Amino acid sequence: MKKISQLFVAWCLAKSEKTDESSYGKIKRKLFSNVSGKILEIGPGTGINLKYYPKNIKWIGIEPNNEMIKYLKEKAKKLKIDYKIIRTNAEKIPIKNNSIDFVISTLVLCSVDNQEKVLSEIKRVLKKNGKFLFIEHVADKKETFRRQIQNLAPKTPWKFFSDNCRPNRETWKSINNLGFKKVQIEHFNLKGVNPLIFIFKPHIIGVAQK
Ligand SMILES: C[S@@+](CC[C@H](N)C(=O)[O-])C[C@H]1O[C@@H](n2cnc3c(N)ncnc32)[C@H](O)[C@@H]1O
Repeated sequence: MKKISQLFVAWCLAKSEKTDESSYGKIKRKLFSNVSGKILEIGPGTGINLKYYPKNIKWIGIEPNNEMIKYLKEKAKKLKIDYKIIRTNAEKIPIKNNSIDFVISTLVLCSVDNQEKVLSEIKRVLKKNGKFLFIEHVADKKETFRRQIQNLAPKTPWKFFSDNCRPNRETWKSINNLGFKKVQIEHFNLKGVNPLIFIFKPHIIGVAQK
């Protein structure tokens, strides 16, 4: 069942490049414009972010879903990025302490099994002053109708079709609690009225510096 769910999500992501560009293109260009050196991206999926990075980076992707790997390789080769893909979960990152300049995560912290572990691994592998850049959809305020739906979603077939996305996570709190030296987080809403966008509100975008 997990395999079918992963196949489905990989197919959806591969088909969603245009929507991703219109929803996130502008903010991704701005957020990723200054990345350099060794970049670790967790849950890169089909490699939707690769086109936003400068060319002279060393990129490592930690991606557990085998169905994403062929898309990732294709894109990295086409864009001539120096890449390495590690097929595993970000709860235990097989990379040395203090060795990465930037860690990037977009729409991943909703899906990981153990968010606390992933965040502490991100901090561990970052160099001193290294930066964690993120765009994530998060839980709405507790009293809202949307939050009720977000709380219910993981108990419905949503779980299967989204490969275990939990839209009711207060991810900004977890990032703030991690003891980074500096954290900047902004909440924003995607525009649009389709049912997916309804669940994916609000988002956070930000930078945490070790
Ligand atoms: C919604 S997709 C987002 C993909 C891509 N980052 C994007 O912005 O389009 C979530 C991704 O997180 C990956 N993922 C899920 N659990 C993970 C984990 N424990 N560690 C690393 N990646 C994970 C999934 O395989 C998938 O590629």
